[in-house]
Amino acid sequence: MTHESARGHVTGSAVFTDEQAMPARFLRLYPVQSPHAHARILAIDRRAALASPGVHAVLLADDIPGENNTGPIVHDEPLLPSDVVSHVGQAVAWVVADNHVIAQSATRLVHVAYEPLPACLSIDDALTQESFHLRPARVESGEVDAALARAPHRLRGEVRCGGQDHFYLETQASWATIDGEGIVEVTSSTQHPSETQAIVAHVLGIPSHRVVCRCLRMGGGFGGKETQANAFAAIAALAAKVTGYAVGIQLPRSLDMQLTGKRHPFLGRFEVGCDADGKLLALDVDMVADGGWSCDLSPPVLMRAMVHVDNAYVCANTRVVGRIARTHLPSNTAFRGFGGPQGMLIGEEILDRIARHLRLPPDVVRERNFYRPGFETTHYGQPVVDNHLPELWAQLKHSSAYAQRRTEIDAFNANSQTRKRGLAMTPVKFGISFNKTEYNQAGALVLIYQDGSIQLNHGGTEMGQGLHTKMIAVAARVLGVNRRHIQIMTTRTDKVPNTSATAASSGADLNGQAIKAACETLRQRLAPVAAAMLGGAADEARFEDDRVTVRDTSLSFAEVVQAAYRSRISLAATGYYRTPVIHWDAVAGRGHPFYYFAFGAAVSEVEICGYTGVHQLRRVDILHDVGTSIHEGIDRGQIEGGFVQGLGWLTCEELRFAANGRLLTDAPSTYKIPTTSDVPIDFRVDLYERSAPPGTDVIFGSKGVGEPPLMLALSVREALRDAVAAFGTAREIALDSPATPEAILRAIERVRE
Ligand code: MTE
Ligand code: MOS
Repeated sequence: MTHESARGHVTGSAVFTDEQAMPARFLRLYPVQSPHAHARILAIDRRAALASPGVHAVLLADDIPGENNTGPIVHDEPLLPSDVVSHVGQAVAWVVADNHVIAQSATRLVHVAYEPLPACLSIDDALTQESFHLRPARVESGEVDAALARAPHRLRGEVRCGGQDHFYLETQASWATIDGEGIVEVTSSTQHPSETQAIVAHVLGIPSHRVVCRCLRMGGGFGGKETQANAFAAIAALAAKVTGYAVGIQLPRSLDMQLTGKRHPFLGRFEVGCDADGKLLALDVDMVADGGWSCDLSPPVLMRAMVHVDNAYVCANTRVVGRIARTHLPSNTAFRGFGGPQGMLIGEEILDRIARHLRLPPDVVRERNFYRPGFETTHYGQPVVDNHLPELWAQLKHSSAYAQRRTEIDAFNANSQTRKRGLAMTPVKFGISFNKTEYNQAGALVLIYQDGSIQLNHGGTEMGQGLHTKMIAVAARVLGVNRRHIQIMTTRTDKVPNTSATAASSGADLNGQAIKAACETLRQRLAPVAAAMLGGAADEARFEDDRVTVRDTSLSFAEVVQAAYRSRISLAATGYYRTPVIHWDAVAGRGHPFYYFAFGAAVSEVEICGYTGVHQLRRVDILHDVGTSIHEGIDRGQIEGGFVQGLGWLTCEELRFAANGRLLTDAPSTYKIPTTSDVPIDFRVDLYERSAPPGTDVIFGSKGVGEPPLMLALSVREALRDAVAAFGTAREIALDSPATPEAILRAIERVRE
């Protein structure tokens, strides 16, 4: 079964938000941007712009009939600022014009007077100025201070990691129309249509039932359209309301990079106590995430980092305190892994520091600290259920010939002065479910027509991850029909209401169960019809190969559907699902937030050049657990793609800001995303073979796969560190993240000293 859009993606015929059939009169938007990171707005004069031909409106805060806010958790995010600007590039006004060239040139005619204010432009600035969002969060278990005091070995350290631009191929896009009844329809490249609908309604000051949000497919989201699509949808809707015309926006790449938030950069400071074998005894971690100017999703992102700092390692005495720096930068947001990667980067740094300090092999120290299957609990109080990581790890260590390659690499390094190789193996344990318990629900609407063809609606959005394809597979399996009879419909809030963001790798888990439930309802209605026609009992009816069979006779699925229609039996059904078991207390930092864990491991081998710091990724072996895959091809694609995206974050993607807070790397010429030539030369991806997790009712035994593989790329960072270490005898190898050639060179120089 191919991805439902594979042909369209490859030939270019797949339609995205800004390519759909638009109304004939269609206006475009362009923002007037702040040149200051932080300034008071003294006055805005839009008269000259309004007088220029082709300009229909210049939207200011005063034009908003409802609430001037798009903040998803904390209402701290004005759609249009009225008093202060909070980052360079922020939109202070939007010009609505006949086309985007006119709109852009008219922005120069909007005169804004500012009084510059002191700005906070980094985590360090925020620490000095004590500039934070909300109160610190805390997760703690055991007796951390006492255990630290008793520990035979104690280490302190600090590690930082950079942000990451989502670089979805389709930039943020939305357009809005208002029909004769005043119903606002917003077409948006959004991962969260229900939230987009709600925010559009708030901004316009109308109830949600007057707004429909729809999303056909996204050209990538990666978390960047979980909340950040909302503002663009809201401004398009506002413009449509003010002008009476359909209005749309698709951000040019540089604007997208300047306006939208990214992965949070983190600073981690730690003190760790361990024994002579490298076993963790106590861990005290302080983390600070750069939240940017508004809260956005920073609180749950930070919390996910805090509950993933343990990665796969048990430490009974653990304290994690987290803060969100409030800076005058774009507001950072969800990005594949949602804080998990940053938390785990800090965790892996700690494990590696312990190993090198004790002169023990890092892979051995990692193994010794694994949660033992069966009876251990995380620092937030959740038992590590269904833990087969030690087994998966052993399998990968064997299949990747880790021990033999370690010997070969040591020999290579002994004979090579200018080039060194490194090898590292890291695990991934990633919690699946939204920490925000109420998000763990989903709905579906399945419609069967008289010819036996089927329309499938669910609350999830398609961003390339293959959710729609998996959902078709679920419906096809439950109804026993070929996929060609199933049409997946555009995700719309008037078909399935109150949906959650398609995020947290839970899209297939949640929507799949909802579709299964709806299809089972329909099957239960059709079975008695078939039984009555064929003779036999309803519970004997089998739905397979486009036929319904009772005992030895069968009818086509369409024949049964037609009979059901004639018997006046409903052929439409909704389905609903909520994840059982989970609960979470964000204030106490305790609970059972994850239905299950996704596990995986990777071995990476690199070679670095001592003169340039340039590295080559020679080989990567991955073993990842997707449970019983619903679609192996898609899951492999997620593993490979997630890994390469993680590689980008850790090795080449570097966001640079000027001293005034302006993003310098706002185009692919200066912001380097990984390309095909960065993919490992020898890339071996295997799916871990096992039966469905016991005690959990996941959809057909499959596991979420969207985010976890990104963190397998931490093995590359650790392999680079291993190669750097070979240049000297140091016991501590500091390596900046991203490990660009410059960063690697700096690390080598430190080691050589
Ligand atoms: N894969 C593609 N091709 N494009 C994307 O935007 N987003 C990732 C991941 N894989 C993404 C992707 C993120 S951040 C998440 S949370 C999941 O897909 C969401 O989809 P799922 O829940 O259906 O796995
Ligand atoms: Mo993914 S960061 O949960 O959208």
